Amino acid sequence: MDYKKYIAERLNVEGIPGEELASLLAVPPDTAMGDYALPCFKLAKRLHKSPVIIAEELSAGFPIDEIVTEANALNGYLNFRVGKKSLVHGFLREFLEKKDMFGASAEGNGKTVLIDYSSVNIAKPFHIGHLSTTVLGGALYRIFQYLGYNVVGINHLGDYGTQFGKLISAYKKWGNKEEVERGGIHAVNALYVRFNEEATEEMEAEAREYFRLIESGDKEANDLFEWFKSLTLAYVGKIYERLHVTFDSYAGERFYIDKMQPVIDALKEKGLLVESQGAQVVDLEKYGMPPFIVLRSDGASLYATRDLAACFYRKQTYNFDKCLYVVAYQQNLHFKQLFKVVELMGEEWAKDLVHVAYGMVSLEDGAMSTRKGKVVWLEDVLSRCVEKAKAVLEEKNPALENKEEVAEKVGVGAVIFGALYNNKIKDIVFSYDKALNFDGETSVYVQYTCARCASVLEKLEGAPLGDAFVAEPTPQETALCKALDGFPVAVKGAAEGYEPSILARWCVDTAQVFNKFYIDCKIVQAESDDIRALRRLLTLAASTLLKRGLALLGIGVPEKM
Ligand code: ARG
Repeated sequence: MDYKKYIAERLNVEGIPGEELASLLAVPPDTAMGDYALPCFKLAKRLHKSPVIIAEELSAGFPIDEIVTEANALNGYLNFRVGKKSLVHGFLREFLEKKDMFGASAEGNGKTVLIDYSSVNIAKPFHIGHLSTTVLGGALYRIFQYLGYNVVGINHLGDYGTQFGKLISAYKKWGNKEEVERGGIHAVNALYVRFNEEATEEMEAEAREYFRLIESGDKEANDLFEWFKSLTLAYVGKIYERLHVTFDSYAGERFYIDKMQPVIDALKEKGLLVESQGAQVVDLEKYGMPPFIVLRSDGASLYATRDLAACFYRKQTYNFDKCLYVVAYQQNLHFKQLFKVVELMGEEWAKDLVHVAYGMVSLEDGAMSTRKGKVVWLEDVLSRCVEKAKAVLEEKNPALENKEEVAEKVGVGAVIFGALYNNKIKDIVFSYDKALNFDGETSVYVQYTCARCASVLEKLEGAPLGDAFVAEPTPQETALCKALDGFPVAVKGAAEGYEPSILARWCVDTAQVFNKFYIDCKIVQAESDDIRALRRLLTLAASTLLKRGLALLGIGVPEKM
């Protein structure tokens, strides 16, 4: 139940809408004061009264009932207390009605959100730098879907540029079919690296010629390109499967080559295109930015040009309400420029383009750090974490069945969670040991809590159960309900701020509250059948919502651990 809304609707403050009041309501860090508080100093100016007087007047006029049992004025704050029974029963009723769709909503119905994420580069390593975009985008995809939005996931492939000419040239000189087929993307990448190390002037010229051949539709050059592309996609596809992410479109940079001209014409028509040192640019000096280069002096398009064409194509094709770009903060300037250009072109939907920027992930483990020319492949990070998870499980629970399967969920989950747990803009250092700590702020901890719930529920099978709705809830039960009841707010917050960490934190916090309840309250050996019924339901709700929370983040939960 949305208590903030409930309280706000009953607070009668002249001239201030309920929605605003709801947004002012805070949850005090110490619940001794109350469950919600209105800081009245935020209203003082507009009401021309002191916060103390406002709090007292509002307190006197507030209609107390069994849902909100107290409204006390204290030092300019108005503190509300929620009725324990109504909180617990209200939550349980709603949970029983919605089950694992608790927190889902229809708020996004009729609206479309595009998410450009992962966006790998063909024939280049799929490295740890792609972890965040892939799992952040994947989480946002599922979260928006859960809120009823029509979501379109786009992998804006890096599949255009002179590097493909180089690749073909290298393949022709040093490569052979069997080797590439055997080595897959690694072999392809090795050719590219070798080209950059050893290429002669002659090969550079040859590479330019091959690139020209790709562009002009030459069959052999294009067949080779398509082959490299399919090898890359097959390779990353396996990783996407492990990370539980999917895409609705793989329209990459090359897709936009024949869609740039109308946009360039529009720029010209609007007088936005100017010449600068032979190049065609949009001058952004007024906005404190370097020029946005549309065409190089040799007439070639750029990454930025293709992105501009993609904006228009996406608006026309999907008529999005929001278009999110989940891309590292290194590209802050690129997106600021891009969005500005769309705005200068007079498109009101420029405001719906959002750069969801994130920080860098590096590894604590020195042995695998990025050395010159040596990148950390994401696949290796996943495999290594799964290996380590297997060792930890072996130690904790040698009798565990399906260890491989459990280790995959635990290990891959730990990598995903590691990238999602902190505010996305922060740079993070990933540590295998920390990520696999059963007692830490980790996915393993949450998964373990789910397994604990499952084992309690199993033990309860056939146990006598009374009426869950009669017992007076204990503080631990109330606290657990409050935490669980916060699930929809966490999901919504994660979507609104493009910040899955809000949901990841909800998972850890709620698992902690559950474990306190588990330690303090007897469940199987409950004092009465009624209490047992209540505690069973709470355990079921905790298990269901923690699982749902992790699933929205892309993390699976083993039955047993
Ligand atoms: N392939 C690019 C890179 O690895 C990311 C593309 C992001 N999406 C976009 N529409 N620019 O840096």
